Amino acid sequence: MPSESEPSAWLVDPLGKHHNRAAFSCGNDTLDRYLKEQAGQDARRRVAAPFVLVARDDPKTILGYYTLSSFGIDLEALPEDVARKLPSYPIVPVTLLGRLAVDRRHSEQGIGEFLLMDALRRAFFQSSQIAAAAVVVDAIDDQARRFYQHFGFILFPDHPARLFLPMKTIADLFRDA
Ligand SMILES: CC(C)(COP(=O)(O)OP(=O)(O)OC[C@H]1O[C@@H](n2cnc3c(N)ncnc32)[C@H](O)[C@@H]1OP(=O)(O)O)[C@@H](O)C(=O)NCCC(=O)NCCS
Repeated sequence: MPSESEPSAWLVDPLGKHHNRAAFSCGNDTLDRYLKEQAGQDARRRVAAPFVLVARDDPKTILGYYTLSSFGIDLEALPEDVARKLPSYPIVPVTLLGRLAVDRRHSEQGIGEFLLMDALRRAFFQSSQIAAAAVVVDAIDDQARRFYQHFGFILFPDHPARLFLPMKTIADLFRDA
């Protein structure tokens, strides 16, 4: 990650009409089709907020994207040591990082990490307005699961594709930001 004082070559913006969705290809049809066919509608209906990463010098070409939504999980779905630290409300509010993908022509350049950090930062600052005790992701396959585990996400005990990162851990990342 570039330091905060150094402007990045990349920008993350809400998905807009000027972005070229048709050219995006991450190698996973479901994630490609979602961006092309569904993301705009989801944004208009306020069921998901899609954000896209572009280069500052080419603001129409989408290099990667992610979506965020409000979500709730059963307290009992969390590992016991995590659940014990939360009040016994049946549903725990969380932020869902529903999708995250990088165009395969730009993979392994740090864009996935940049997108993930941007999503976590956004979820963290938003959580003081609309509470969320964690960020939850549903990994689309084993490769995606390993990507999230690389950044410290923890698997739900009874849900092999669902992972979470406690907001407390995320807060520690951005405490001085
Ligand atoms: C998974 C994906 C987002 C990674 O994006 P990327 O831009 O190539 O990743 P980065 O270059 O930012 O990698 C950052 C770090 O994550 C690691 N990483 C990347 N993909 C990984 C994987 N599948 N498993 C484990 N670690 C991984 C890199 O080695 C790197 O580690 P380092 O900083 O310690 O060297 C991208 O390959 C992708 O879009 N895949 C298809 C869609 C997908 O699987 N989405 C995931 C969620 S649904």
